[in-house]
Amino acid sequence: MAWQAIDRRTPVIPEDAEPVLSEALRERIRSFFPRYETKRAALLPALHVVQNALGHVSPQAMKEIAEVLGIPPSSVLDTMSFYTHFWDHPKGRKVIVACRSLSCNLTGAEAVLKAIKDELGIGEHETTPDGRYSLMTEECLAACDHGPCLLINEKLHKHVKPEHVRKLLDDPANDRISMERSDLFDGPSASAAEGPRNQRTKEPG
Ligand code: FES
Repeated sequence: MAWQAIDRRTPVIPEDAEPVLSEALRERIRSFFPRYETKRAALLPALHVVQNALGHVSPQAMKEIAEVLGIPPSSVLDTMSFYTHFWDHPKGRKVIVACRSLSCNLTGAEAVLKAIKDELGIGEHETTPDGRYSLMTEECLAACDHGPCLLINEKLHKHVKPEHVRKLLDDPANDRISMERSDLFDGPSASAAEGPRNQRTKEPG
């Protein structure tokens, strides 16, 4: 995860908005409570499970997470807006995560990021109008000896050069991996609560 200042204005949520968290998802959040001394401490796992289940954490979802945890909605917004990892609006089908940390930076990450922005015509935390790609940066993708690196969905691409970007983006299989996902946030009720969370992206490029 990385942190940076992003202008996210405080949203206004209609009083009569439909709930977005299912009871199963709420129960999934409650299942973290025994791990911590306070309910508030379950906020980060809650944000992860909601984003995994719904694709993003909308202002309405933040409000409902706050209800489950018994904390002010502003606390959820504060935490969520600290991390680029969390999205308050829908992401594209393929999320490009460019590393901006030191090793990648020294080996040309800035030029790669510029090439991605130029190719897609979007900035960070934005999505192409066709909903195909979103772009974000993070601190270190744990492949520092292979920089510059980027992720397309869950697939790591190493030694990326600006001239590789167009081909990488065009390749329909550039986001596929064959490894099992981490079970870090999984529990007995995870599958029921999160639905498609454990399914891989199947859309054609
Ligand atoms: S600095 Fe880029 S992967 Fe670590």
